[in-house]
Amino acid sequence: MLERSELAENALQALHDEAYDVPLNPQNLNADTLLFTGGRASRPLDGYWKFCVDLLDTGLRQKWYAMQPAAPEDRTEPWDYDPFDGETVRIPSNWAMLKEKWYFFEGSAWYTRALDIEEIEPTRRQFLRIGAAAYACKIFLNGEFLGNHYGASTPFCVELTGKLRRGRNWLMACVNNTRTLDRVPMRNTDWFNYGGLYREVALYDTPQTVIRNFAIHLVPDDSYCRIKVELEVDGPDAGPARVDIPELGLSQDIPIQNGQGEAKIPAHPVLWSPDSPKLYDVSVTLGADQVTDRVGFRQIERRGTDILVNGEPIFLRGISVHEDDATLGKVTNEADLRRRFEHARELGCNFLRLAHYPHHERAAEIADELGFLLWEEIPVYWAIDFANPATYRDAENQLRELIQRDRNRASVIIWSVGNENPDTDARLDFMRRLAETAKALDPTRLTSAACLVNHSQNRIEDRLADHIDVIGLNEYYGWYEEDFEDLARIGANSAPEKPVVISETGADGVIGPNGPKTGLFSEDYMAEVYRRQIDTLRRLDYIKGMSPWILYDFRVERRQNKFQNGYNHKGLIAADKKTKKQAFHILAEYYHQIADTTEDNKTETA
Ligand code: GCU
Repeated sequence: MLERSELAENALQALHDEAYDVPLNPQNLNADTLLFTGGRASRPLDGYWKFCVDLLDTGLRQKWYAMQPAAPEDRTEPWDYDPFDGETVRIPSNWAMLKEKWYFFEGSAWYTRALDIEEIEPTRRQFLRIGAAAYACKIFLNGEFLGNHYGASTPFCVELTGKLRRGRNWLMACVNNTRTLDRVPMRNTDWFNYGGLYREVALYDTPQTVIRNFAIHLVPDDSYCRIKVELEVDGPDAGPARVDIPELGLSQDIPIQNGQGEAKIPAHPVLWSPDSPKLYDVSVTLGADQVTDRVGFRQIERRGTDILVNGEPIFLRGISVHEDDATLGKVTNEADLRRRFEHARELGCNFLRLAHYPHHERAAEIADELGFLLWEEIPVYWAIDFANPATYRDAENQLRELIQRDRNRASVIIWSVGNENPDTDARLDFMRRLAETAKALDPTRLTSAACLVNHSQNRIEDRLADHIDVIGLNEYYGWYEEDFEDLARIGANSAPEKPVVISETGADGVIGPNGPKTGLFSEDYMAEVYRRQIDTLRRLDYIKGMSPWILYDFRVERRQNKFQNGYNHKGLIAADKKTKKQAFHILAEYYHQIADTTEDNKTETA
């Protein structure tokens, strides 16, 4: 046992020090250290890593990260795990999907890989980028702790400059998916607690002066003729930056003062919209550094109870989606994402709610390309310790990371700060601050949250509505709320002054031999709920969109009756992502009908 070695310093302390984790939790890898990577060359570090689960955090207690590689016969003391040996896994992946014995594993897990560096250029910088690690992730290089990140679905960067050596380096990540009381989400969710390094990991080599953050958008002043660029720069003065949009004949210098630069530039871009998803190639050059992006220019706003894209009111024909796959777990890929959008197109959608956490960045990039509008969300979900400043710090950081990552995506129109939270004073303060933060960081988009019906008043009412632009409403009349007639009464009883989007509604329907023929959990019953929901909702003129729950059946630990078997079956399509249920066709018929009507109206007024 390493308790005898100097590695654990005071050897016995390694067994009795329960504060072992405190020095390793600065959460210093966050929105402030995130690097803009669009267009940058990278060295992928996906593929095979050594792997070991570590339920009791023995690795942190015994300091496995400080061990040196050695052949077993050369070791002079017993050891409990050798990070340089042991099992091998491929990343990106969720360990739950790799081995039966890891399916429900919740705790720390160690990933280790060699990183061979040929040359170290003194004038260059190196950054490691982790696309996502669920939930908390500590990074070690050559035995040195470099920092940790909180949040299961946002990217983070670690600067390795001056820490890498020529030749063999050892990179370790200790990833922990334990559900705790102080994080976002907290302990209880209706989606599977996948752990692991489950999005891409890559190394970036940059000049000394680097473009750390780059935002570009159409100035939302109804003129449609000015583009705003905002830059954050890190490193010695490298003169002005230059932004180029060749297709617009635009090339503009932007002075950099104290690491910041911004400009409003006259331009007349073809506007991006779901019907015409025009994208422009944009590049920003600063000294020896350059980043690029593909950007659509459009204006999003709210007027009264209308949501407008480029000044035109729009109805959001949507569907909610999780990141979940029967084989991949929470890992997604190009084919999985494009299939999701193809099914959404078949459904007649122009909108998707990416629930309940930031999805892979490719989702918004593909939505830009195909012309879908997106609701993106941070997992302030159900019960949260709203009175805990540490919890707020976690939530706000995940929001900042999401906005920094996706703010150049034309498809993203709504930042949602949460889902189905109990209406308490602490919750109101917590989520108001988040909504204000989103608006301050990005005044070009709308804010929302998925709220609940006020059953005591029997109407759509939530104190948070005063602080967000769009009222998301989760209602399950016909499923959780038994008296379906209440939906019409609530509809008549409410007079919201802002647009309402039905952010969730639906019912479980188990298709195939496993499902009941009638009653709850039957496909027929699910279809009937969709018919009645559509028939009621279509009469409420302040409802400006819907994203029923959900496109695909998805895995979840908390649903174990004989019809569910560890799945939530509210999907319009089964977990095979092929078999469509009756409700799919019912919703598709409605969406295609209202899409045609909208088209007809446009033609008439043209
Ligand atoms: C809730 C929740 C979802 C959940 C759904 C359900 O509204 O927001 O995350 O999966 O209802 O119960 O199926």
